[in-house]
Amino acid sequence: MLEVEKERISSGVEGLDKLLGGGYVSGRSILLAGGPGTGKSILTWHFIFQGLENGENAILLSLDQKTEMIIEDMKSFGWDPEPALNENRLIILSGDLRLIPRESGFEYIIAFDHPMLREQPFTVQRLADLVRRKAGENKAKRLIIDGLGPLIELGTNRFEMRQMVYGFLRELSAKDATVLITHELRTMSGTQNDEMPYFICDGVIRLGTLYTAGDYIRTLRVIKLRGANHSMRPVMFKINDSGIIVFPDARLPD
Ligand SMILES: Nc1ncnc2c1ncn2[C@@H]1O[C@H](COP(=O)(O)OP(=O)(O)O)[C@@H](O)[C@H]1O
Ligand SMILES: [Mg+2]
Repeated sequence: MLEVEKERISSGVEGLDKLLGGGYVSGRSILLAGGPGTGKSILTWHFIFQGLENGENAILLSLDQKTEMIIEDMKSFGWDPEPALNENRLIILSGDLRLIPRESGFEYIIAFDHPMLREQPFTVQRLADLVRRKAGENKAKRLIIDGLGPLIELGTNRFEMRQMVYGFLRELSAKDATVLITHELRTMSGTQNDEMPYFICDGVIRLGTLYTAGDYIRTLRVIKLRGANHSMRPVMFKINDSGIIVFPDARLPD
């Protein structure tokens, strides 16, 4: 069979690039899945700042952290997003999921910082419009959706929601940008919604922790990467003041 080598784009983490066989697959979507605090957001920031250093613009859509908090946390790792934000090379859009009481019960809404979404009832379509417009503004090559959960929670009809989120992701991918999505796995998993992002993304990386020799270590595994060769081995990684370091060659304890 003819193997066509796909173009790769650096994740911003040397050890992860090695594990992936050169980086994420350019122009595709990759899901970072893991429990809370497993390093998903930090991993997306490596991708963002690696791009900015190389003249590639980015859009960060966060559905679980406020913009000010994101900026503050980025700075704590030594990244300063302000110059890129001022020049529109980096655009951060943030919103959070809220449960609003209605006469007939409760309704989920996503409360957004952006004026285009603040006043109106939130829809995935409207969010897609906003991202489309912003991507047109700064010609983003790297699109990040941090926290897919709230989008999935919104729907009363799972099938309909799946179609909408799928359409949204496909549209983003079609923009010739590489799309990074994070999804928080619940401790009590097993619902259909939890698994949905696994099928719709081209690549999946699982982040987690392992308890061994009286201590927790962080682990990462590339579960799938459509159209590319990669290692399936779980590897160890660390988080320190400069972010994430992946050790692709260190053997994990059995
Ligand atoms: N300076 C640091 N040194 C070591 N670990 C850190 C540091 N800053 C944050 N962390 C770890 O990173 C975690 C947060 O990572 P984050 O990417 O926000 O997780 P997620 O997005 O998966 O919830 C914290 O829970 C903490 O364990
Ligand atoms: Mg996060």
